[in-house]
Amino acid sequence: MHKHIFKKYPAKDKSNLIALLQGVQEVYGYLPEGVLQEVADFVEMPLSRVYGVATFYNQFRLTPLGENVIRVCRGTACHVCNSANILFSLETALGIKAGQTSRDKKYTLETVACIGACSIAPVITVNDEYFGKITVKEIPNIVKKFINAQKKVPSAATAPADKEKAGVE
Ligand code: FES
Repeated sequence: MHKHIFKKYPAKDKSNLIALLQGVQEVYGYLPEGVLQEVADFVEMPLSRVYGVATFYNQFRLTPLGENVIRVCRGTACHVCNSANILFSLETALGIKAGQTSRDKKYTLETVACIGACSIAPVITVNDEYFGKITVKEIPNIVKKFINAQKKVPSAATAPADKEKAGVE
């Protein structure tokens, strides 16, 4: 599923590490552990250094996203409009902290810097939908609305390691 990515770059060239990781994440929606080892072997770097790069950059994820991704803007405009309480309310309603995915894989909760909708601060997004001037009172209804939502994450394909686990266990 991801082998084509390696064909784009010469082996043993560490300068392509970021591009390789981006390619892998495009395929799976995150960086599966087994594929990280393949990348490390390909560029001839220790796995620990590849992990170091993957965890340094915010763009990379080491775990798959949930079916619904909720993002809470923590930019300045939203911050002064009480986004901390919005986040706390979502964490309470979902039973997860920012940066986590629920056990049933229904939700991922993330914080982001300004998402470019300051005029309607505070703002959250659920998948592609924006909710502006949001209040804590509205959170339970928004969460409910997405409980039975269809899978929305476009590139979250099943990783080889996950398939193996599913087949073996
Ligand atoms: S600070 Fe939240 S949208 Fe700009």
